[in-house]
Amino acid sequence: DEAQLEAGFQATIDRKDRIEPRDWMPDAYRRTLVRQVAQHAHSEIIGMQPEGSWIGRAPSLRRKAILLAKVQDEAGHGLYLYSATETLGVSRDELTEMLISGRQKYSSIFNYPALSYADVGTIGWLVDGAAICNQVPLCRTSFGPYGRAMIRICKEESFHQRQGYELLMTMMRGTDEQRAMVQESVNRFWKPALMMFGPPDAESANTEQSMAWGIKTHTNDELRARFIEMTAPQAEALGVTLPDNELDWDEFWTVVKGGGPCNEQRIAHRKQAWDDGAWVREAAAAFAGLDTSSPRG
Ligand code: 3HC
Repeated sequence: DEAQLEAGFQATIDRKDRIEPRDWMPDAYRRTLVRQVAQHAHSEIIGMQPEGSWIGRAPSLRRKAILLAKVQDEAGHGLYLYSATETLGVSRDELTEMLISGRQKYSSIFNYPALSYADVGTIGWLVDGAAICNQVPLCRTSFGPYGRAMIRICKEESFHQRQGYELLMTMMRGTDEQRAMVQESVNRFWKPALMMFGPPDAESANTEQSMAWGIKTHTNDELRARFIEMTAPQAEALGVTLPDNELDWDEFWTVVKGGGPCNEQRIAHRKQAWDDGAWVREAAAAFAGLDTSSPRG
């Protein structure tokens, strides 16, 4: 009966085993996983926009090739994570529709503009660095497909973080203008990067349950603190100063609710790409003999 199923499910989690797609799971566990994994996937895809806007303006072929590889990686991360979400019985079409209609979220960080070339390095160093801090523990998340996707993603994120740091180090060894550009970029991205870890634990509606279900193994504040501790010596070695860690949570919630500098532009861009690609999806489905009339098509 249901109580026995629930007990078996929790025992699996308590002994740190994985829950697999075919296992029985509480509806609420399934719902919060669809919510978090889809949001993670959406973040990867939306994150291609700020970085992609600098591919055509990279200062050398080497920098262009590295940035191209990184943006391509993000698309792949989105693919792994949408595939993990689909094992929970929801289609990519539905997920994309929920993103575009605002019923699903993506990481707040991508609602800030990438204004200078130094931002390409800062995003690699701080945004991918924060993502690594959050994603390494997710390699041990209780839902099998999500944890396994994280292992490959974390390896690629490490390359993203290193290339960003190396880009900034090169600029710091350049002219005064380049050093000033790096510091200005860090000043803009430091606090939004800290907000990637979510609201303070006291305002986190999902953390307690996600910890009980082994979806999260650390709280938002724990990972934020770990990231700050990890990053401070790197900033020192780079020769930049980090702004203070006082975060404006009103700003955070405004951005999460759609009021950030780039929210509308990001969703409009995503919708345009989705609409422009409809003919490819229909042609591929027709070729495969799939019925495209149903949403799962
Ligand atoms: N941006 C947008 N929404 C956020 C957010 C953020 N930075 N932090 C929290 N929220 C939302 C949550 O989704 C939740 O709203 P919901 O219940 O409607 O979904 C609400 O704010 C309260 O936050 P909680 O702490 O209760 O929510 P979670 O338990 O889901 O924790 C999280 C938030 C820590 C971001 C968690 O969802 C998580 O670890 N997600 C996986 C990691 C992830 O999404 N990373 C994206 C980073 S970008 C990236 O990876 C691309 C790379 O290339 C840099």
